[in-house]
Amino acid sequence: MTGIGAETGIGTCELMAEADIAQDLEAKILSRRARIAVIGLGYVGLPLAIAMCKAGYHVVGIDINQDKLRLLAGGKSYVIDVPDSELQEAVSSGMLVPTREFDQLRDVDAVSICVPTPLRRSKDPDLSCLATAIDALKKYVHKGMLIILESTTYPGTTEELLRDTFEAMGYRAGVDLFICFSPERVDPGNPKFKTGDIPKIIGGISPRCTRLASLLYGSFISNIIPVSSTRTAEMVKLLENTFRSVNIALVNEMALLCERMGIDVWEVIDAASSKPFGFMPFYPGPGVGGHCIPLDPMYLFWRARCLDFYDRFIELASDINSNMPRHVVAKISRSLNRHRKCINGAKILILGVAYKRDVDDTRESPALEIYRLLAQDGASVIYHDPRCKRVFLDGEVIESAELTGELLESVDCVVLCTDHSTYDYEWIEKHSNLIVDTRNAFKGIKSSKIVKLGAPSIYDAPGIYEDIPGTIRFKELKEINEPKEVKEVKWSKETRGIKGELREFKELKELKDLKQPGGIKEAAATG
Ligand SMILES: NC(=O)c1ccc[n+]([C@@H]2O[C@H](COP(=O)([O-])OP(=O)(O)OC[C@H]3O[C@@H](n4cnc5c(N)ncnc54)[C@H](O)[C@@H]3O)[C@@H](O)[C@H]2O)c1
Repeated sequence: MTGIGAETGIGTCELMAEADIAQDLEAKILSRRARIAVIGLGYVGLPLAIAMCKAGYHVVGIDINQDKLRLLAGGKSYVIDVPDSELQEAVSSGMLVPTREFDQLRDVDAVSICVPTPLRRSKDPDLSCLATAIDALKKYVHKGMLIILESTTYPGTTEELLRDTFEAMGYRAGVDLFICFSPERVDPGNPKFKTGDIPKIIGGISPRCTRLASLLYGSFISNIIPVSSTRTAEMVKLLENTFRSVNIALVNEMALLCERMGIDVWEVIDAASSKPFGFMPFYPGPGVGGHCIPLDPMYLFWRARCLDFYDRFIELASDINSNMPRHVVAKISRSLNRHRKCINGAKILILGVAYKRDVDDTRESPALEIYRLLAQDGASVIYHDPRCKRVFLDGEVIESAELTGELLESVDCVVLCTDHSTYDYEWIEKHSNLIVDTRNAFKGIKSSKIVKLGAPSIYDAPGIYEDIPGTIRFKELKEINEPKEVKEVKWSKETRGIKGELREFKELKELKDLKQPGGIKEAAATG
């Protein structure tokens, strides 16, 4: 015996059989005879399964959630990117079979795993859903199967949890079992990019694994990007989401600084975006949410820590982003204070609880954290969201209120957390008493009622800027906020200066008459 067979002790017949295994799968993929299973039919798995059906594959969709399976069987989609019509077509034609039964895996040629990968309370990875799915798969795995992990996780997971498990059972990854990692990059609610339009990264345990997965995914995704290993593919996803997390943290911090300096961060970002190279706009907000940005970087952080490597960017970004809800609550408190009100006993309406515009996903949503903090401080909190009819918060089910002019007029403060495109912002402004806008959703509407995150506000304490050279002065600030209606604003005569001393300000109309730029100091008679 010569060649590879001689070195490895594998006989020629065996080598041929192994080549046949890969060729057989290749032929099934090319002819669309390959049967596929998608494990986990959520925001990632369901659109993927539908894309596979549209490409001509028969797909078994496995999920453990009976409610979801019931909806799927009835042709009702719960994922924003999958219209009912597409789901009904796939289910009624028999191309998609939603089921809870893992024994269906016995006859499938390829499996895509799309189960959740959350964090524990300690912020360590929680891979229990993945472990359960792999356990179930162990019973039905067979030679020639292609297994692709889509769930976001730390570099090394595919090797440690999939390859090692199946090799311990006697399979040879890359030889008679094909294993890859291919990170899902779907952006729920994005009308421009759907599963088939987003370039797909694929990294296999071996080049043969990568080639087979590329062949399968390349039949319904226009751009396949093969990479050298599963670890690289895992790291690609974490780099992408860490990049977002860090940049969002940067603008969130800028927003806080701009508030203090009396600069509108939104205007700054818009102007900076005019640079045709080297700048990419990110926007501040009430915090980060969803199943990706708050979680994924922590997977990398955890793995790095195991290697005595402390990823300071990740930790700092997580710290800044997760503190944004508290900043918003402080802003609400200050704004109510100007009306001689406090959070305790105030009626507060949160508009939008989804973690981002035009989706129904409330996972990790900062709006819910703001809700919780306000309620803890004694506010009577209600919410409205056109896409989330009810939310589960601390074991309670809370229903979305009906959004009416009377409701807006009856609350002390409206907090805009999610800038859904269906909101009529002019109408909301007209009926509200006070608005804290965390998304610049009211852009272009001039009103003394609006307090914007990351921007100077008429509700900020007068005098806080006056002693700092080069920063905006209180009088100028009011003119920015209140170009026309300045006389209508009722101010308390007493307020505190930057050093905490009590000051008394004259009426605004008198302030307006002041001639010299530094006149604000003369206008203030110390109390
Ligand atoms: N949501 C996104 O925007 C997004 C984008 C890219 C990547 N991801 C990643 O994709 C993965 C899935 O996220 P998702 O948003 O689709 O989650 P999801 O919660 O919407 O869906 C996951 C589904 O898996 C099911 N499930 C859980 N354990 C199971 C098991 N053992 N067997 C079978 N089914 C099981 C759940 O019932 C659920 O229906 C996560 O790792 C996530 O980080 C998500």
